[in-house]
Amino acid sequence: MKLALIGYGKMGKIIEEIALLRNHEVILKIDISNLGEFTKENLSKADAAIEFTGPHSAYENVKKAISYGVPLVCGSTGWLDRLDEIKKTVVQENGAFLYASNFSIGVNIFFELNKKLATLMAPHPDYEAGIREIHHTQKKDSPSGTAITLAEQILERNSRKKRWVNENSDNVEDLEIISERTDPAPGTHIVKYSSTVDDIEIIHTAHSRKGFALGAVMAAEFLKGKKGNYSMKDVLNL
Ligand SMILES: NC(=O)c1ccc[n+]([C@@H]2O[C@H](COP(=O)([O-])OP(=O)(O)OC[C@H]3O[C@@H](n4cnc5c(N)ncnc54)[C@H](OP(=O)(O)O)[C@@H]3O)[C@@H](O)[C@H]2O)c1
Repeated sequence: MKLALIGYGKMGKIIEEIALLRNHEVILKIDISNLGEFTKENLSKADAAIEFTGPHSAYENVKKAISYGVPLVCGSTGWLDRLDEIKKTVVQENGAFLYASNFSIGVNIFFELNKKLATLMAPHPDYEAGIREIHHTQKKDSPSGTAITLAEQILERNSRKKRWVNENSDNVEDLEIISERTDPAPGTHIVKYSSTVDDIEIIHTAHSRKGFALGAVMAAEFLKGKKGNYSMKDVLNL
């Protein structure tokens, strides 16, 4: 496959490594230094593009890439409030788009466990649900996109919780997400249910960024030749 990378930072570089190992060709790398190359003509030579820039540039990049008609995988976090708008644009423009707050295979299985556990715990008010996420200090958004996905999965299943908050809270209707920033830490997410008699915890720990990069390349392979909005559930058949 011919791939274009939008964002050539820590993730972009590892995605390139994994893409080459899987016999793909990286025909375009867009970064802050060569934004002039982000053109329809250049993008249309790629079978798919992969965007990992960050919260402040993702929306504009995604909109542009979709209007250029290239199938797009996006991993930038911190812009979820505009995701629904983008998904509508994808349908209107007959594009192909896959967003994931976390591309690792392990986290996507962890999401399924989280949903199952949330359903099992919903009838048990003695257990207080909470989320903790630990990332490196360079991470620009807080809480992590993965923690927000975990929280939303719990909110959909537990009627006692009405909203997530990114701080300690005494309000039983708040689902706490506690964010810690420390180095080095590619990413740990903990979902915990605590009662006076016992606790139940599920934990996912990323050891490196390679898992995210592999998932993103697999997503691009999946998206080639497709139309519409997809998720990692589709890629992994979960
Ligand atoms: N979904 C997942 O599985 C997953 C996994 C890991 C990370 N992420 C997310 O992916 C994003 C990138 O992470 P990272 O660790 O690779 O960050 P990073 O090392 O800061 O890389 C981002 C790169 O994008 C460049 N950039 C900034 N604005 C741009 C623009 N408008 N157009 C093109 N390139 C631009 C940056 O250039 P400058 O440095 O010159 O600004 C930088 O090289 C973050 O939002 C992070 O949270 C997601």
